This record gives sequence, structure tokens and C-alpha cells, in this order.
Amino acid sequence: MFWPVREWMSGSDLNVKILGRSCFYFGIDRRCARSTYASQCYAPKADGASSRSRMTPEKNRVEREHDVERWSNMSEKDYVLGTHDEELLRLGLQHRVWRPVVLDCWQKAGITTGKRVLDLGAGPGYAALDLAEIVGPSGEVVALERSGNFVTAMRESFRRRGLTNAKIYELDLMTGNLPKGNYDFSWCRWVLSFVSDQALLIKKLGDVMPKGSISIFHEYAYYETWRFLPPIPTQEKFREHVVATWRESGGEPDGAADLPALLSQTGFIIRSATPHIFCVRPTNYMWQWPATFIEVYLPRLIEMGRIDQIFADKVRADLANAGENANALMVTPLVVEIVAEKI
Ligand SMILES: C[S@@+](CC[C@H](N)C(=O)[O-])C[C@H]1O[C@@H](n2cnc3c(N)ncnc32)[C@H](O)[C@@H]1O
Repeated sequence: MFWPVREWMSGSDLNVKILGRSCFYFGIDRRCARSTYASQCYAPKADGASSRSRMTPEKNRVEREHDVERWSNMSEKDYVLGTHDEELLRLGLQHRVWRPVVLDCWQKAGITTGKRVLDLGAGPGYAALDLAEIVGPSGEVVALERSGNFVTAMRESFRRRGLTNAKIYELDLMTGNLPKGNYDFSWCRWVLSFVSDQALLIKKLGDVMPKGSISIFHEYAYYETWRFLPPIPTQEKFREHVVATWRESGGEPDGAADLPALLSQTGFIIRSATPHIFCVRPTNYMWQWPATFIEVYLPRLIEMGRIDQIFADKVRADLANAGENANALMVTPLVVEIVAEKI
């Protein structure tokens, strides 16, 4: 499989400015390559808050002109994972880890120059930026996102990258109308886990996707596959808290569970369904995806009053130990890729 170098690099070359200070998150990934992402990037305080005093800029050759900026004093519509700076960075790492899988999926599905793509729940726009580069000036990306923080970051990224082929809407998928458009594709990743009514979202999607268009989903099918080998009891407990808090917030972690039924009720036919699950060592970049999630979500669980600092420290220590054990393995949460055609 071949991708132009520019496409491979475009998700990694963002320089993130946080509250007026710069940190270079490609550098962060490298510096934090052994499951100690947040502890090296920002030292957690006893109250669960974080200080970024240890976050020093490190430039490398891919840190160029593209910035994502955050304005944390904006009015914000939050969701369970948060839309704070660490979550924005985490979403960037997550996108880079998954990028080979995603580019392969898009290419096989037929996303190419000139296509129009609707991105549902686009976050800070990491995928939307890649899509905009792929479809080029003759194509278009329409990105929908509820968080004002993420929308601002996304707009700034597009501006700095000189990409003008995107329309970005701050929109709640549950209460807002999806913009009509002659879409060829839609893209929805890790969003169904967080919306309060999946059937409503799929119904709205069905209303705007033209006949013959393709809708692509990357959603969790069975979150509980996420475990270490040998198992780490604190991680299993942490995972239970994750599942419980997502459900309490009105979402459903296994976002793909009802998707086949919802799609068929809404006039879609599934063209392919592909599981994505990995069993990785600490040296594999994929390890960083769940590892950084643990770091970012522990303070969130403390804020929610679900865990205390002692438990958080134990989870961190167990994760660090596993990260130093060359024989440790981690099985990732099962994601299913569903490609469906509107009929
Ligand atoms: C885990 S993030 C995934 C972001 C992006 N799709 C990606 O793959 O990087 C989930 C995103 O869904 C957004 N979201 C959740 N509920 C939403 C809603 N009701 N309307 C719009 N966006 C929503 C969140 O704000 C967040 O940006």
C-alpha cells in the first residue's frame, strides 16, 4: 500500500499551542514513549489537576508551520472525556496510531480526489485534515463537532495549513440538523459511544446521505477486550470505571453494537465489516493509545469522584511496570469498521 509522503506526515506535523505556550506533541509522543505520557508531559497534582511545568518544547523535522490553537476560556459544551488540552493532545496521538488503518480503509472505500465527505463528531479535526488533503481542492469536507474548543482548534488548523475545502460547523448531532450536501462519503469514528441517541443520529445520517453514497464507521464493538496479558487487576477495575462513566453520561461504550440493525432500518446496506484488534508489546506505537488514555482519564475519574489518588497512582505504577516489561502484552479494545451503502 502506498500513500504520498505528505499524507503520512500531515497528522504528525502539528505544533500545539496551549494557553499561549507551545508544546510540540510529536515530540511529546517520543519523549513519552514508555507509557508515562502525562507524568512526563505534565505532573499530576494530588488533587488530580495537572501542571505542565515539565512540558518543554522539543522541535523535530516534522514540526513545521501547522499549529492547533486552543482557547480554553470559550463557552464549552463538554462531554465525558472532556475537551481540555490533554484530551486534544490524546486525540492527536490516537489519530496517528490509527492512521495507517484509517488511510487503508478510506482508500479501499474509494475516498479520493474530488469526493465530498461528511465527518460526524470530528473532534479537533485530525481526520478531517487528512480527508481534506486527500479530496483536494475539487473535493470538500464538512466537519461537524459540538465542542467549541475543538471547533476552534480545527478551524485554526485548516487556516494554518491553507486548506480551504472544508466547512466546519459547531453543531450538536443530537439537537442540530445535519447540513444537506451531495456527499459521497460520511466518516464517523468513536462518536456513537458518546451520543445519547444512536438511532436518532443514524436516522439523521440516512436523511442527508444520497443514494449510492458510502458511510464508514470505526466504533467499539466490545470494549472489554481491552486487557493486559498477564491481566492487571487495577487496569480491569479502571476499565470498569470507564464503561460505567460513559454509560452514566448517556452513552454506550460498545457504540457499534446496534449499528447493523440501525443501518438496515434506515436504508443502508452493509458492504463490509472488519474487526480491528491488536495484541501489542510496550515497544509498539499502538501501546501508547490505551496508555495515554489511562493517563488522561485518571484525573477525570478523580474529578467525578469515582476513584481516589491512591488508586490512580496504583494504576499508573502498574502501567509503568508493564511498560518496562519486554514480555508484557496488551490486547486493545475491539473496534469494528463498518462500510455501508445508502440504497
Ligand atoms: C472520542 S472523540 C472522537 C473525535 C474524532 N471523531 C476522532 O476520531 O478523532 C468523540 C467526539 O465526539 C464529539 N461528540 C460527542 N457527542 C456529540 C454530539 N452530540 N454532537 C457533536 N459531537 C459530539 C465529542 O465532542 C468528541 O469530539
